[in-house]
Amino acid sequence: MLTTHRLISAPLIAALALLTTPLPLAAKRAAIEAEHGMVVSVHELASQAGVEILQKGGNAVDAAVATGLALTVVYPFAGNIGGGGFMMIHLAGATPGTGRDIAIDYRETAPASATRDMYVGQDGKLRQGAGSSTVGWQASGVPGSVAGFALAMQKYGSGKVTWAQVVEPARRLAAEGHIVSQATAASFHTFAKLLAPFADSQKIYLKQGTFWKAGEHWVQADLGATMARLQKNGPREFYEGETAQKIAAAMSAHGGNITLADLKNYQAVERTPLRGKYRGYEIVLMPPPSSGSIAILQMLGMIEPFDVAAMGSNSAAKYHLFAEVMKRAFRDRAEYLGDPAFIQVPVSQLLDPAYIKGRMADFSPNRATPATAIQPGLGKFMARPMAESTETTHFSIVDAAGNAVSNTYTLNGAYGSGVTIPGTGILMNNEMDDFTAQVGTANMFGLIQGEANAIVPGKRPLSSMTPTFVFKNGALVLVTGSPGGPTIINTVFQIITNVIDFNMAVAQAVDAPRIHQQWMPDVISFEHQGLSADTAVALKAKGQTIKERASYEGGYQGDGESIAIDPKTGLRYGAADPRKADSKAIGY
Ligand code: DON
Repeated sequence: MLTTHRLISAPLIAALALLTTPLPLAAKRAAIEAEHGMVVSVHELASQAGVEILQKGGNAVDAAVATGLALTVVYPFAGNIGGGGFMMIHLAGATPGTGRDIAIDYRETAPASATRDMYVGQDGKLRQGAGSSTVGWQASGVPGSVAGFALAMQKYGSGKVTWAQVVEPARRLAAEGHIVSQATAASFHTFAKLLAPFADSQKIYLKQGTFWKAGEHWVQADLGATMARLQKNGPREFYEGETAQKIAAAMSAHGGNITLADLKNYQAVERTPLRGKYRGYEIVLMPPPSSGSIAILQMLGMIEPFDVAAMGSNSAAKYHLFAEVMKRAFRDRAEYLGDPAFIQVPVSQLLDPAYIKGRMADFSPNRATPATAIQPGLGKFMARPMAESTETTHFSIVDAAGNAVSNTYTLNGAYGSGVTIPGTGILMNNEMDDFTAQVGTANMFGLIQGEANAIVPGKRPLSSMTPTFVFKNGALVLVTGSPGGPTIINTVFQIITNVIDFNMAVAQAVDAPRIHQQWMPDVISFEHQGLSADTAVALKAKGQTIKERASYEGGYQGDGESIAIDPKTGLRYGAADPRKADSKAIGY
């Protein structure tokens, strides 16, 4: 009889040993490594568009605009010019610590005709379907994406590529077409009910009810023509040109709220990022109207006194602690946060270390605090007027010079309001639902919100989008962010702690299972296969209510398209999130 050692060579034995000994999780999936530039987005063709611009001499900002516009074409689920978002920009300095960080707020605004109770019906209840804050012509805020991209590029672009050049990949993908992926084809089926009532959405995304199949060549002629007009006439085309006129005319014909004046008056705003420290790292985040910055800095502050690493990344002790800090941060979010142009957001009080410590005074490692027992920490929100005078996708980019962009933008729900403006291929957002449409009534993400986020003309709705940078000794080490409504905050929080507390490589930090708790409902949701049965038992024993995430996205939470930079070698590591079938990191 032959013995195994005669059949199997020494290297093979070594390889088999590797397979049978438990592998470190980092070996599960490697990030994409590159020396110069890296683009990570939810679609390969959009990542490619960004790389194309980097290789033409554009910087991370120029590439971000190209990627953002390309996603509009290849990922209409969330990529958009009919929505809005946040772009964080890091401009590298000559040495670590000498760079500059900028936040561009291109969140949608409430139209001038908007009113506080515009979505409340005569029966005192929030309207559903047509006329609601979620579906149809009245659900949209004034789109900010084109203005945001233009502001970012004009002020912080390289000056080496033109606006026409960065629009070109999107124009080409729309006018010449691209191959429909399996995920995109499936998504059109999932959202057919939302899209079908609107003639142009029915035509473009549902192929008049016959549906696109994976592998088919899909041309979006109207969107291609819109991109060509933007290319030729510049970004103001969207707000004052033929495109603006088409939007305003369609809105007026269908009872929508956005007028030509709303479009003309829209302004993207440059803001100063919020900065905080966690275990020697510096975290730089999008300030309000993003709520994520304050919530994440509060949560990091609340967990810092604990030896999180010793708890183990999948332990009941960690998940319990995290759920408890999430409840407290989301309680404050509901009470105090809104558009800083309209309300006084008590940023410094909410981030005061003594306040944060006090928030955990009633924390027990053994017992869940019921959500109903958690009060906002600074007393009831009082509307104080200002002295002088509110579905998503994330992508990350680093260029050869070390500049970076962390961008999250959205239509709010998948395919937004469902409305495509006739003759333009522009899918419109349903961002008005991010406002408090009615105090005490949950929005589409189950968020109960307060007066601070009430609807006012021109105001930006409170957002959870949290594009983020992490620095170590002044050097940028992580670019991250995610979609997923309120889960964004907790997804980004967990990616950060995976890297800092658990020393995970970026791909591992992105892949690791996530949980979500948002104060109300008083439930921890976890991902499919994301929590072991005995951990679940231990969490229940502490009084936590837990529930497996059952979403249309297969039970997964978020989509953290991220890049890490090794401060020693300067190598960029792109980690596309495997939760999204078409996501892709491309480096060079
Ligand atoms: O700004 C916000 O918080 C929401 N409009 C984000 C929506 C979102 O992430 C949906 N994606 N899955």
